[in-house]
Amino acid sequence: MPVPTIEWVGGVGGHVRLLDQTKLPVERLFIDCKDAETMWEAIRSLRVRGAPAIGIAAAMGLVLGVQGKNAPDTDTFLDEVEEVADYLATARPTAVNLFWALDRMKRVAHEAADLPLDDLKQRLLDEANAIREEDRAVCRSIGRHGAELIGEDCTVLTHCNAGGLATADYGTALACIYSAHEQGKSVSVFADETRPLLQGARLTAWELMEAGIDITLICDSAAALVMSQGKIDIVIVGADRIAANGDAANKIGTYGLSLLAGEHDVPFYVAAPLSTFDLATPTGDGIPIEERSGDEITCGFGLRTAPDGVHTYCPAFDVTPAHHISGIITEKGIISYPTTKGIADHFREAER
Ligand code: MRU
Repeated sequence: MPVPTIEWVGGVGGHVRLLDQTKLPVERLFIDCKDAETMWEAIRSLRVRGAPAIGIAAAMGLVLGVQGKNAPDTDTFLDEVEEVADYLATARPTAVNLFWALDRMKRVAHEAADLPLDDLKQRLLDEANAIREEDRAVCRSIGRHGAELIGEDCTVLTHCNAGGLATADYGTALACIYSAHEQGKSVSVFADETRPLLQGARLTAWELMEAGIDITLICDSAAALVMSQGKIDIVIVGADRIAANGDAANKIGTYGLSLLAGEHDVPFYVAAPLSTFDLATPTGDGIPIEERSGDEITCGFGLRTAPDGVHTYCPAFDVTPAHHISGIITEKGIISYPTTKGIADHFREAER
């Protein structure tokens, strides 16, 4: 399976090693993050990206931020934990896994506050590693459920990268494809290149080729034609945040794909772990959408492709309304035609 996206090296005084995804597919470069600032920059500049991977990075970043602190007492240490968490939370706004992981780390710090400082730091590192390990299992489970939707001879369209690179191991949308492939099904993939940062071209195409899965790269604007030609059996994408009613934020262009899928009677599925749901946000209107520098459109990868000084608008995500979604695949099963009630029931069932 894919190269490790992110891992902790050593003990409490150790560091994070991550695959710099900005360099793919040209170079397989690993970088070491030894402090919270380097991790913040890695998240912000998409060296590590994809909602679950961002969550893992934030949890490990929190350990980096407190590992060297010699607080005189526990209260001071807990204040430092909060401070580092608040700082890391500013790295990117949309993927809720970032906030979910930081909240979990803060909760653990408070629950383990009776421990001596060194043990408390070890407890935080254990939790960050647990978040990563759980994500591996979650991805496998999403894959198993999603594979049920993939026929014996099936072509899947996907957008951005919701694969092993975006998680601890196997991905969400791509997990369904890997799982079906492992079951011996004949699965082909069409990947949108995903302007402006080309996660589909640089990452999904690379990752699927490494895994030996048949992949055809298309321009984002070719998706309508490809669907009208009957080449696509199912669309499966990931998500960065899913509101309580099922409205799902994902990479810019996903909403448009859902409309195209509806027009062409192609089922449209979102694959995401329960940690990507934001049940405190009732609808997609409340999901913060990251806006990135217009340079990503006009001068992507250092090549100027638009006049200097042109006005730009560069939202990194959009929200697909729940009524355009055929189902949401989680580690606990599939929520068909998601509604607030269907999602609440799914969570209740998951807690049993
Ligand atoms: O800006 P990115 O590359 O972090 O955007 C990633 C996506 O939109 C993914 O589809 C999403 O995070 C799901 S990853 C399993």
